[in-house]
Amino acid sequence: MRQVWSAVVTSALAATDPGQAVPWWRSGVTYQVYIRSFADSDGDGMGDIDGIRSRLPYLVSLGVDALWINPWYPSPQADGGYDVADYRDIDPAFGTLDAAQRLIDDAHAAGLRVVLDIVPNHTSDEHPWFVAALDAAPGSPERDRYVFRPGRGPGGELPPNDWRSVFGGSAWRRVRDRGDNGDGGDGGPAQWYLHLFHPKQPDLNWASPDVRAEFLDVLRFWFDRGADGFRIDVAHGLAKDPALPDLGIDHEGVLGPPDRENHPHWDRPEVHEIYREWRRLADEYDPPRMFVAEAWVSSVDRLAAYLRPGQLHTAFDFDAVRSPWDAADLRRTITSSLTAHQRVSAPVTWVLSNHDITRHLTRYGRPTPVGLQSAGSEELRRGHGPTDVALGTRRARAAILLELALPGAVYLYQGEELGLAEVEDLPEELLADPVWERSGHTDRGRDGCRVPIPWSRRGPSLGFGSGPGWLPQPAGWGELSVQAQEADHTSMLWLYREALRIRREQPALGTSGSAEPDGLTWLDLAPGVLAFTRPPGFTCIVTAGAESAALPPGRVLLSSVPLTDGRLRADAAAWLVTG
Ligand code: GLC
Repeated sequence: MRQVWSAVVTSALAATDPGQAVPWWRSGVTYQVYIRSFADSDGDGMGDIDGIRSRLPYLVSLGVDALWINPWYPSPQADGGYDVADYRDIDPAFGTLDAAQRLIDDAHAAGLRVVLDIVPNHTSDEHPWFVAALDAAPGSPERDRYVFRPGRGPGGELPPNDWRSVFGGSAWRRVRDRGDNGDGGDGGPAQWYLHLFHPKQPDLNWASPDVRAEFLDVLRFWFDRGADGFRIDVAHGLAKDPALPDLGIDHEGVLGPPDRENHPHWDRPEVHEIYREWRRLADEYDPPRMFVAEAWVSSVDRLAAYLRPGQLHTAFDFDAVRSPWDAADLRRTITSSLTAHQRVSAPVTWVLSNHDITRHLTRYGRPTPVGLQSAGSEELRRGHGPTDVALGTRRARAAILLELALPGAVYLYQGEELGLAEVEDLPEELLADPVWERSGHTDRGRDGCRVPIPWSRRGPSLGFGSGPGWLPQPAGWGELSVQAQEADHTSMLWLYREALRIRREQPALGTSGSAEPDGLTWLDLAPGVLAFTRPPGFTCIVTAGAESAALPPGRVLLSSVPLTDGRLRADAAAWLVTG
């Protein structure tokens, strides 16, 4: 039976990869499935694997090449599944290993790749390794898999250094005195452990050979089951300066770029060796498996360092996410990203939204658009004034045409194709992101982009499931549902489908996969107008700052708004076939 399946799989996937010469990840469009909020098959309010399976036809009709699924492993869910208790199983709330296998197989049969999410910086405190570490004595091999240290001060009552947790507070927690393991009671003061994120997410010690071997084995486990690749969580974490020097800061931004050279726990040179090992493993497979890194680093050159030959394939480009909606800024950012990636022969991986940042429709609708090159997800989430949803929607329509016209790979975040805005008025008692508690209720966290998506006009959770979802949907989302948008040629969903269809058909779009700049040539049309051509004969034009722009001669393939007298109005984009 497995053999029959793999024959089906090979042919379905081959069909999406004409020529096979260019690996799919160089230009593929991947849809991010935030599993808790995508589709709930059993009515418990939580999305699940069978829910995803039931919606594969939707992803096929949307026209994407792959899906990335946020962590689905057994987890106490202290951080939406990024606190993993067992890397080789499925959380019962999401399904079973068999269900996961069925999903992978069905996705392949439908011509879709499946990218999973690996969380190597930390485990859950309920992972058997951490439980064993607590039971073991200081200095034991069990403790050496994590970062345990004695405290400072006469009784060790102060944390080992001043590092801050990304979610707020100190990055250290003292273990309880047990008295029977040499840690406290008889054996001196109890130790502290490092948790750069939640206290329920103890950091692993990547200098430990056990840790390195374990993760290679976990990758193998899922690659053997057909996973086509992995998104690497906090890929710039992992390695720590063993001296654990103080940082002299009182605040760690949520997922921002490191604030200094030679940072003791972000973007350290030692991480590259880890990824060289991972790449060797991925290359043992036929077809080779791929990686996409989440790395909040200080420059696009630092990002490209992860993509040097022999390391990772792709990494999200957060510079474009941070760019204000302004033609000159966008051009500068796009150029610097393309240039840095070309130097290492890697494609840029464009992204506008994900499960950690404010939905881009809302960001683009704010009077002061984010323009902080140094912004981390915290700044990208903070309010910058009230949102003009109509403006945000117009810009979001233009932004997707811009993104899909650029050379490289693209990730879509579930719901952006429906034009969903950030939900900014969730009742406080329902907020589940640990950021809310850990910030002392000053930062509402990331739940506003994690609300279950609407599939139909009506129903207790608008078709997400048969009962209410784990977070309530705002009034009005029924009209943004897939059902409502499917028949409407002016809808966001229709624009995404058309753009993805044209992207597949146009030889100029996607990427050649070579180290060449993929022939992007900027056109200097007018201030506030971004325009470029790609051979053969394709032009993308975007108004970001200008009141309107004259279209270059050519046949319009698609535009984000209706055109008036051959002109494109403000905050809009068009694709043309030009001579
Ligand atoms: C990544 C995830 C985020 C999570 C954090 C800790 O940034 O995207 O959701 O909270 O890592 O694992």
